[in-house]
Amino acid sequence: MASIIFTDCPMMLRPFHLKGRNGAFLPRSCVVKLSLPTTASGRGCTLSIRSSSPPSAIVIDGKAEAKKIRDEIKTEVSRMKESIGVVPGLAVILVGENEESATYVRNKKKACDSVGIQSFELLLPEYSSEEEVLKSVSGFNNDPCVHGILVQLPLPSHMDEQNILNAVRIEKDVDGFNPLNIGRLAMRGREPLFVPCTPKGCIELLHRYNIGIKGKRAVVIGRSNIVGMPAALLLQREDATVSIIHSRTNNPEEITRQADILISAVGKPNMVRGSWIKPGAVIIDVGIKRVEDPSAPHGYRLVGDVCYEEACRVASAITPVPAGVGPMTIAMLLSNTLTSAKRIHNFFQ
Ligand SMILES: NC(=O)c1ccc[n+]([C@@H]2O[C@H](COP(=O)([O-])OP(=O)(O)OC[C@H]3O[C@@H](n4cnc5c(N)ncnc54)[C@H](OP(=O)(O)O)[C@@H]3O)[C@@H](O)[C@H]2O)c1
Repeated sequence: MASIIFTDCPMMLRPFHLKGRNGAFLPRSCVVKLSLPTTASGRGCTLSIRSSSPPSAIVIDGKAEAKKIRDEIKTEVSRMKESIGVVPGLAVILVGENEESATYVRNKKKACDSVGIQSFELLLPEYSSEEEVLKSVSGFNNDPCVHGILVQLPLPSHMDEQNILNAVRIEKDVDGFNPLNIGRLAMRGREPLFVPCTPKGCIELLHRYNIGIKGKRAVVIGRSNIVGMPAALLLQREDATVSIIHSRTNNPEEITRQADILISAVGKPNMVRGSWIKPGAVIIDVGIKRVEDPSAPHGYRLVGDVCYEEACRVASAITPVPAGVGPMTIAMLLSNTLTSAKRIHNFFQ
């Protein structure tokens, strides 16, 4: 199969199949010049098709790595239970009926069950007051069976997100969103109690694939409090030289082309094109967005920030979407909950 190079990402297009003389599909790697049949005007036309090199990037399998981490956590959870009779517990507060949030919460519960972590779910109606949510947070803060508290975002617009997140006791802030945790992450010689799960998962993937960070040029696209900013801080802590790109950055592709390691956390499908990537770079694609696709079982598919098909031909390694960073986020949440329970119960053997 060969495809015409359009300006849009090939993943977004219907494939354009071309057949050779013998009727066989042309290999993707071909560079061909086709002479099409004579047109009504009597002139033949030539269609040039540029085709790129075959995919060569290693696929960083977040799903498989997350499974290994969950297995390690499961072993630790049962060792802790046998040794001191404590089972780590994670409480999740969900306010409102946001369908995507409800799915995330269900997945977190399933993940807890799979490793033996106790989960506590509190579903509050959309019209709950901020005081009611704060009261629930306070209840979990004081519950000795709960070692981690997570408030599912986004919260309804009538609530002050900052107030509520700040109410989570720092010892149970397994999301790592407390400003004190982020502050420590940013400071040299200080250790945060928890590192936010998604960026922690990105770095864990780099470690597990033996991708060196020290001295590398790293670029992070996105500067949100929960992904981009802490990802940049983590890379810096590991001695990378870091640049951050955001919505006001001019000519982002000139910066991304310098990256040995590129982490993208924007939420704009296929924004990062093959031409934005330095040959041999490592790409971690955090972005995930539903894109309508009538041919997909649910009428949509999940697409990352990076045009996967193009990036695979330039990068040396890349995370897919889905099955890349997503499963690692949940694995890191479980890991943070276990760490919290160990710390609270002084279980370090
Ligand atoms: N896989 C997972 O586990 C996981 C976890 C969390 C998030 N995500 C996904 O990651 C993506 C980002 O999440 P988020 O919560 O960080 O999103 P967010 O809060 O909306 O932040 C998006 C960031 O992207 C920047 N941005 C927007 N348009 C841009 C452009 N054209 N060029 C460069 N930068 C641009 C924004 O810049 P400004 O700061 O200038 O506005 C902002 O910093 C989303 O797709 C989300 O679903 C995945």
